[in-house]
Amino acid sequence: MCGIICYVGKQPALPVLLEGLKRLEYRGYDSSGIALLEDEQIRRFRAVGKIRELETGLIEWTSDAKTGIGHTRWATHGKPCVENAHPHSDCAGEIFVIHNGIIENYLALKQELITAGHRFLSETDTEVVAHLIEEACREHADLEEAVTRALARVRGTFGLAVLSTRHANSIIIARRSSPMILGISDSGTFAASDVSALVAHTKQVVYLQDDDLAVLTPDGYRITNLHAPAEVNRQEQTVDWDVDAAEKQGFEHFMLKEIHEQPEAVRNAMRGRLVPSEGISVLGGLAGVREQFLRMEQLILVSCGTSFYAAMLGRYILEFCTDFRVEVDVASEFRYRRLNLRDNTVVLAISQSGETADTLAAIREAKRKGALVLGLVNVVGSNIARETDAGIYNHAGPEIGVASTKAFVSQLTILYLLTLYLARHQHMSVTDGQEFIRELESIPDKIEQILAKSAQIQQVARRYAQFRDFMYIGRKFNYPIALEGALKLKEISYLHAEAYAAGEMKHGPIALINPDFPSVCLATQDSTYDKMMANIQEIKARCGRTIVVGTEGDAQLPALCDDFIGVPASSELFAPLLTVIPLQLLAYYIALENGCEIDQPRNLAKSVTVE
Ligand code: M6R
Repeated sequence: MCGIICYVGKQPALPVLLEGLKRLEYRGYDSSGIALLEDEQIRRFRAVGKIRELETGLIEWTSDAKTGIGHTRWATHGKPCVENAHPHSDCAGEIFVIHNGIIENYLALKQELITAGHRFLSETDTEVVAHLIEEACREHADLEEAVTRALARVRGTFGLAVLSTRHANSIIIARRSSPMILGISDSGTFAASDVSALVAHTKQVVYLQDDDLAVLTPDGYRITNLHAPAEVNRQEQTVDWDVDAAEKQGFEHFMLKEIHEQPEAVRNAMRGRLVPSEGISVLGGLAGVREQFLRMEQLILVSCGTSFYAAMLGRYILEFCTDFRVEVDVASEFRYRRLNLRDNTVVLAISQSGETADTLAAIREAKRKGALVLGLVNVVGSNIARETDAGIYNHAGPEIGVASTKAFVSQLTILYLLTLYLARHQHMSVTDGQEFIRELESIPDKIEQILAKSAQIQQVARRYAQFRDFMYIGRKFNYPIALEGALKLKEISYLHAEAYAAGEMKHGPIALINPDFPSVCLATQDSTYDKMMANIQEIKARCGRTIVVGTEGDAQLPALCDDFIGVPASSELFAPLLTVIPLQLLAYYIALENGCEIDQPRNLAKSVTVE
């Protein structure tokens, strides 16, 4: 995830910026850059890779500049390279911008600005902001006014900072749906996207709110609103976290932080990709292969681990809503099959890291056999992103906890978008498409409601933390979620967890049930509800304990099971985006109770780059 640090004050800015950038490293990034304002000139330096590459490049620099901005970039638009690293500037090299977030309408704006004579040097969405400000400055000499005008043209999210030779000794900050925090100290004024970059210097902070615009000077700050020029007051607060806790933004582990970032991950996956009035999704990354894609006779989803469970659910929802033939395969097995691919086969590789060796091997094999190979990848510029013919990025931000959570929910969201994309090309009506979008757009709020029940789920976890064996069961759309829930528990708590399609219970696993072998049952009110109810009765009849994830307000299950966790009602197609959340929290809190190393479980790596 990109990071921002800014400083204007009495000390040299360069060491402050470098130290701040290092504090932001934990967020994950692929390049970085700084810009310093000195003697009415701005000097910029950018580098690909770690902050030490930036430092090495700056070794010859001496600078007394007391005003500067710094950025770590986690690529979303355009590969990781120096040209795409922030800060980005206008044509005249007078206005420099760093930005977190996504400018949704950047392509249209870029085209308009190119027609007006602006020269672009990067593939990023951010660069349009620098040129928009330059353009606005032609009519409004005042930089603050120009920034306001420029941002009025922008659709999307931003936390950004503007440094300009037109505004000596000051920095302009603005935010919309992307955090920006001001830091106040005797030695100057700071701004950052993350408290962790500030706490080494000051604990006095101001959290900007959406559409705030702040002007920082060495002696303080002034905040107005992007829609109204009147000054606004924001309360100063004292941070009581140390640096370590600040990186996790107060959460005890990255995994928990990432679980809580899931409403945002869903919103980011959807951002700019839905047209509610037409009931369609727009997937820009597939534009170049659209015709070939829509002509496909067979779609094969390949991936590993959690990404494989996303693929499994992808098959269910694609088959439910479209007529395409869909298969899934574990990437590590794909090459062992005697693959007899039909003409017009499309292989979609799903990978958070984009570096998983088994998935890479599968896509190479698929290419060799002549398939069109697409990627659904979180890490821009990764090997899978580069080796696939086209694809879709998650925009979920870096996932640091080894156990995948927000990337999974983001993968699912994009598989829903893909389903809508294909279904509307086939027989899905406009009104059904609009309803599909309404359901999907309601998901982030519903996830928030489940996260608000964390304390209840922690209580349940406490009651079960001493058990060593668990069964997870679900049917239809909830079957892949049962598999994912069990994997989460195995990974971070080292407990034995088996997951089955609930209908399989009677074919063997039911022999395991006893009072020491609890079952986690997914039983939302859907077309499989009665059958799930029967499974739960069968477990109870064998003195098995049951934790049931069901629909809030269910009149029967709470009385039947030992522990009931309710999720908000939704149509069964979308329920997996909700039922997975309590399972992640249950696994997390059981691991916590057992004192496990949650973010870096034993034997596991975040990117599995060996076959
Ligand atoms: O980066 P990828 O999505 O390709 O990774 C695939 C698996 O290694 C990954 O999902 C793994 O199963 C996670 N640790 C699950 O939490």
